Amino acid sequence: MSDSIQRVSIVVLISGNGTNLQAIIDAVATADLPVDIRAVISNKPEAYGLERARRAAIPALVVDHRRYPDRAAFDAALQTAIDQYQPRLVVLAGFMRILTPEFVAHYHGRLLNIHPSLLPAFRGLDTHKRALEAGVKEHGVSIHFVTAELDGGPLVAQQKIAVLPGDDALSLAARAQQAEHILYPQVIRWFAEGRLILQANRAMLDGEPVRLSHQTTSG
Ligand code: GAR
Repeated sequence: MSDSIQRVSIVVLISGNGTNLQAIIDAVATADLPVDIRAVISNKPEAYGLERARRAAIPALVVDHRRYPDRAAFDAALQTAIDQYQPRLVVLAGFMRILTPEFVAHYHGRLLNIHPSLLPAFRGLDTHKRALEAGVKEHGVSIHFVTAELDGGPLVAQQKIAVLPGDDALSLAARAQQAEHILYPQVIRWFAEGRLILQANRAMLDGEPVRLSHQTTSG
């Protein structure tokens, strides 16, 4: 890892296991992803991802949503916790809280989320189960800039995965996560290299509107 390159500061928000966080940590260590993970913040004290952060010597913080009277108070505390690290980019990696429009506006153009479906299909929770129930042949994962519309912000990248005979929600989730672990570091690299921006509510890559069909592969 070269110290001469300009690293983009990021803060990662999690609620659970943190395998996407781990993929980002690993990409910094082994693939020279040019970011500096300034902190990992969880709304759940028991999130295993906090342990992953500590093992990588990254500050690991808890802002427990249950300690705040309402969503606005929690988001304000979360924003304060994030902003002490002055990140250029905030990465939602399995962060399972709905965010207020004020919070989202504060990080306009520098807040990314990963979602386990081919958006706009299956916004919200239980995406794998719902995809199976709907009988879709193709499922996948999406990364998007976050706006006030839940899981509705401008899409940046998608990875398709085929639904196989005999799949259940667990097997589908496992393959979706494999795809996530490749796709998220790649998208963060685009942002860190200044290639990915949000402009007039469109995700732009290398000066062109993102064309999702050029970034998906089946498998
Ligand atoms: C990921 O699969 C991510 O797509 C999903 O949570 C999982 C977190 O896994 N996010 C959402 O459902 C957001 N609505 P991880 O903690 O192992 O990275």
